[in-house]
Amino acid sequence: MSVDNNLADQGSEFWIFGYGSLIWKPPPHFDRRIPGWVTGYVRRFWQASQDHRGTPEAPGRVVTLIERSYWESLTDHHDKPPDKVWGVAYRIIPERVAEVKEYLDIREINGYTIHYTPFYPAPDVDSAQLPNGSREPFKTLVYIGTPDNDQFVGPQDPQGLAEHIYRSEGPSGLNRDYLWGLERALNELSPESGDDHVTDLANRVRAIAEKEGKAAEVLAGLEKVLEKERRHHEQPHLFRKVTSVDEEEETEKKE
Ligand code: BEZ
Repeated sequence: MSVDNNLADQGSEFWIFGYGSLIWKPPPHFDRRIPGWVTGYVRRFWQASQDHRGTPEAPGRVVTLIERSYWESLTDHHDKPPDKVWGVAYRIIPERVAEVKEYLDIREINGYTIHYTPFYPAPDVDSAQLPNGSREPFKTLVYIGTPDNDQFVGPQDPQGLAEHIYRSEGPSGLNRDYLWGLERALNELSPESGDDHVTDLANRVRAIAEKEGKAAEVLAGLEKVLEKERRHHEQPHLFRKVTSVDEEEETEKKE
């Protein structure tokens, strides 16, 4: 998708938009984190994950962004979502931009490709944090698993999808922890940043855990994982050579 002309002058500032795990697992070398949204897309758990929240034999499910015009041509079991897809924009430390771009420009990760889209900062963000101090939208890089990539799954029955997420696990951890981590991270951004598709799936997965008599156990597991991640991201941003934004997930796990 092309980027509108009506953008803030951001000079050479380089920003990345996260709408999935990047919301609570920042990319390397950022110095600002801004809540806000993009438009023209719908967030859905329609991308298979063979290397993070699943395996090649049993892929899990992670989110991607679907162009709204394409989404409207499909039959989805979840309601029409609001225009805003909430997430977080990260500014890459200026001295690290060349290095980070070098990784990003040469890589396609797990079926996701690089796109650029305008990002709208949330109203309560301090203008001093924004490019050129302007409240106008600005350009962000975003990873999208488009419908033509091999791991794009498309619309799924919500209960079947929830069962699938409940059972899946990959090198980065349990698929359900990714879902619940995303639900929580979205709810923390703003009073209006929740996503009905994510919340509905999260509720269904909780109900499955309860039915299996495992609710307390799995929720305690989630708390442990999130606490570990929170402690990790409170560390100063030391140089860490990672080969993609999401591979930070694996880097953490191996430590
Ligand atoms: C994200 O926005 O969180 C994201 C999207 C695709 C791949 C990795 C992270």
